Amino acid sequence: MAKKFSHATIEKNSILLLVLTLIVVAIGGLVEIVPTFLIKSTIEDVKGVRPYSPLELAGRNIYIREGCYNCHSQMVRSLRSEVERYGHYSLAAESKYDHPFQWGSKRTGPDLARVGGKYSDEWHRLHMEDPRAVVPESVMPGYPFLAQTPLDYRNIEGGLRALAAAGVPYSDEEIENARADLEAQATPDADTEGLMQRYPKAVARDFDGNPKTISELDALVAYLQMLGTLVDFNAYENTDFTQ
Ligand code: HEC
Repeated sequence: MAKKFSHATIEKNSILLLVLTLIVVAIGGLVEIVPTFLIKSTIEDVKGVRPYSPLELAGRNIYIREGCYNCHSQMVRSLRSEVERYGHYSLAAESKYDHPFQWGSKRTGPDLARVGGKYSDEWHRLHMEDPRAVVPESVMPGYPFLAQTPLDYRNIEGGLRALAAAGVPYSDEEIENARADLEAQATPDADTEGLMQRYPKAVARDFDGNPKTISELDALVAYLQMLGTLVDFNAYENTDFTQ
């Protein structure tokens, strides 16, 4: 009898029903939200992950400008078919310095998260100019103007500074040297000591096959060639990835 009374009372009293509903929803909310404040980080640090070098960053900006993400994802899912095709599944830390991230939601073309080192610069040059020159059945558009357009990096420091404001750990020294580092990475035989110290594993060479100018293609290929190359997965075989 008491049970029937209490339930009927709640159902017939809209204010009481509202108050009790709010209490129940609040408990559900707290259970979900409080733990996220208590854990130190939602992303585990992984050895090797570093912010983009200025040239890679300039290439990434071109990737975004040209809308490459409309056809390419940058996230290998933890499914067997994906791992066998693309390599190790993506770790959260690998895109922790990405603003905005390029995970993508559409794959007209393949995933690019681990495309770095898969092809030669020469392949990328031909492919960007005319994809069908290397992959006859390709539906990717050509971007022949990239090789002809000198890279505008007058405000590359501003790019680093903006990312630093968003939480990417660029030091004052890195921001100050941004332009020199960009030039050093795209120029053969340049002094790259500072660049390599600031951006370990950065690859410095003439990416577009034209050593006379730093083109947009230089930056884009530098970016494509470093994608997925920072974490040494062989060194982590059967161990965990944290530092
Ligand atoms: C209309 C869709 C589309 C757009 C836009 C597009 N791609 Fe592609 N991309 C493809 C397709 C389809 C392939 C597979 C055939 C081929 O290799 O050309 C591909 C292949 C590639 C590959 C080779 C990947 C591999 O593992 O073989 C790279 C690198 C690439 N694209 C880079 C880019 C970049 C950089 C841009 C932007 C400048 C871009 N794509 C824009 C559709 C697209």
